[in-house]
Amino acid sequence: MRIFSGIRASGDKTLGNYSGGFRQYVATQERAVGEGGEAFFCVVDLHSITTPFEPEALREATLSVAAWLFATGLDPDRSTVFVQSHIRAHAEAAWLLGAATSFGELRRMTQFKEKAEGQEFVSAGLFNYPVLMAGDILLYRTTVVPIGDDQRQHLELTRDVAERFNQRFGETFVIPEGEFPEVGARIKNLQEPDRLMSTTRGAPQGVVRMIDEPDVIRAKFKTAVTDSGRDIVHDPEAKPGISNLIEIMAVATGAEIGDVEARYDGAGYGGFKQDVGEAVVELLAPFQQRYRELRADEAELRRMLAVGAEKASVASGPTLEAMYDRMGFVPPLR
Ligand code: TRP
Repeated sequence: MRIFSGIRASGDKTLGNYSGGFRQYVATQERAVGEGGEAFFCVVDLHSITTPFEPEALREATLSVAAWLFATGLDPDRSTVFVQSHIRAHAEAAWLLGAATSFGELRRMTQFKEKAEGQEFVSAGLFNYPVLMAGDILLYRTTVVPIGDDQRQHLELTRDVAERFNQRFGETFVIPEGEFPEVGARIKNLQEPDRLMSTTRGAPQGVVRMIDEPDVIRAKFKTAVTDSGRDIVHDPEAKPGISNLIEIMAVATGAEIGDVEARYDGAGYGGFKQDVGEAVVELLAPFQQRYRELRADEAELRRMLAVGAEKASVASGPTLEAMYDRMGFVPPLR
């Protein structure tokens, strides 16, 4: 089993990113290692330039995401954690795979249509985004791609392109399977429990950032909105606020939803909110410390990424060579 995950480099990370992302990557690492397989975690910085971006922000977001990946538990020795642009094969594979991808397929991609709509400048990169992604996956002879539901179509395209290439130029790629994990707790904004916790939208007071100081976290939970009634029960329809807090408690402590309900049976909202805040402070403290250490020692962080790049290069190089060779390119004399 070989697992490949692509992680977008983007702004401030939140508790929502922990629940739906970082936490799951660590679980993936353990599973891959446990089953004698390998897991690749790639910070997909080349994908970041398909929509408007600032160079300085890209640099910061890339280092920040990488630091969070390590800080929350990915291990450079047991997994391969690397930055996409460090492996030139990704850009090259995307170009070569363009020969096996049709304009019509790309034009049908829902994400392209959504992201292009109403934009003044739609880059060629945005159109080609799925080809770059196909290269990411195929270069590593990936068997399993854990991926969000919104990426289903891109994975289907990857499989189609791989099959077309194999038929046209000879067996080169492994056809990957998608895996659509039950998204764990989809953590909501503490002030607006009907929307996901995200830094780009919604009340900032309801957004717990990975880097928030303990007192800031406590204050955000203290002011979290609750619901009418006074029972601490998980009922997302009728009690979105309390249900969100129960889910956060479950994520922070590893307890089941039912255990949280049982423990707070008959307790008041005020004390519960305080306890959830405290649990999150405790959850994040070691991650924050490790994150700060890594950000203070950029050389160390980049060394860790270099370990990943070395392994990624060994894994992807032969596939890229095979692609050039089968397509009829004359190799340079060495
Ligand atoms: N497109 C993915 C997303 O938006 C990120 C990604 C890029 C990816 N390359 C990948 C995911 C390869 C899995 C495998 O989340």
